[in-house]
Amino acid sequence: MNPHFEISLAGSESSFACAADDTILRAGLRQGLGLAYECNTGACGSCKFDLLEGEVFDLYPEASGLRAKEREKGKRLACQCVPKADCRIKIRTGDLYRSMVRPARFRARLISYRALTPDMGLFSFKSACPAEFAAGQYAMLTPAAGAMTRAYSMSNTENAEGVWEFIIRAVPGGAVSPLFGGLPEGHEVEIDGPFGVAYFRPQIDRPVVGIAGGSGLAPVLSIMHAAGMDESFTRDLHVFYGGRGPADIPDIPGLLGDAAAKVSCHPAVSMPELAQQQGWQGDVGFVHEFLPEKLKQPLADFEYYMAGPPAMIEAVVRMLVVEHKVAMEQIHFDRFF
Ligand code: FES
Repeated sequence: MNPHFEISLAGSESSFACAADDTILRAGLRQGLGLAYECNTGACGSCKFDLLEGEVFDLYPEASGLRAKEREKGKRLACQCVPKADCRIKIRTGDLYRSMVRPARFRARLISYRALTPDMGLFSFKSACPAEFAAGQYAMLTPAAGAMTRAYSMSNTENAEGVWEFIIRAVPGGAVSPLFGGLPEGHEVEIDGPFGVAYFRPQIDRPVVGIAGGSGLAPVLSIMHAAGMDESFTRDLHVFYGGRGPADIPDIPGLLGDAAAKVSCHPAVSMPELAQQQGWQGDVGFVHEFLPEKLKQPLADFEYYMAGPPAMIEAVVRMLVVEHKVAMEQIHFDRFF
């Protein structure tokens, strides 16, 4: 039987059981605790903790989410540590991080694959359990035993049929995406989720803007599906999507399906030479540069959901907050860097 260890939180009465093959972060979230996190992959540093007592095994000692100095002082990342004994830890907590749907591990099988661009595809999996998650959240996918686990956002919305759709981009030398290219239908993967705090907040009374690059399109599509299919949601919906060249731009209205009628799509390509070579008639530039022109009202009037390359996220946040005085509370993204 898989042994479990007790993890107690300093400064509170809370404690939880963590299986020897589970990370401290995910075990805590599974049991309804609001342990601070964002990426689940060792990159953002949000889940750092002090190990006060006990012993852990660090799955990823080179993770960029922790500086060498912090590591020397005994800090660790909860998303990358599994327990080797009962532990007492000091970690940041907050209600924001408490999962509305408790994350769980389960098997799912590949039911379809569709290419969206030369290096991006839509993968659909089916689980025996319902697909329960908030629009904009992500799950951890392990494509085969012993393979690397990666975070991918769902591009559909929750459903009783257990269908999980992900947009996956082939990264040269990437550990996961080449495997997917060769997976036959019916292949089983492990899904662990849902996770993420950049989920859709439909109760906020502002029009919604989704900004994405690369496979960051997935959570934005999920949010647009959720808002677009909700008849009571009548505020404006916008998708800004950036690629290097025209070939990187998928058929976004096609992916939105029935929700497309309510969504304004604003694609842009960033490389003028590719735009010219491939006869692109649309906007050329970094996608965020087009927000003021396309939105036609003060940018502080909107609620923003973003996913994509770190440089894009940083540029958008800087522009919205510094130049247009948008409050950080109106900008939602999970930091994967
Ligand atoms: Fe652990 Fe990001 S480093 S959640």
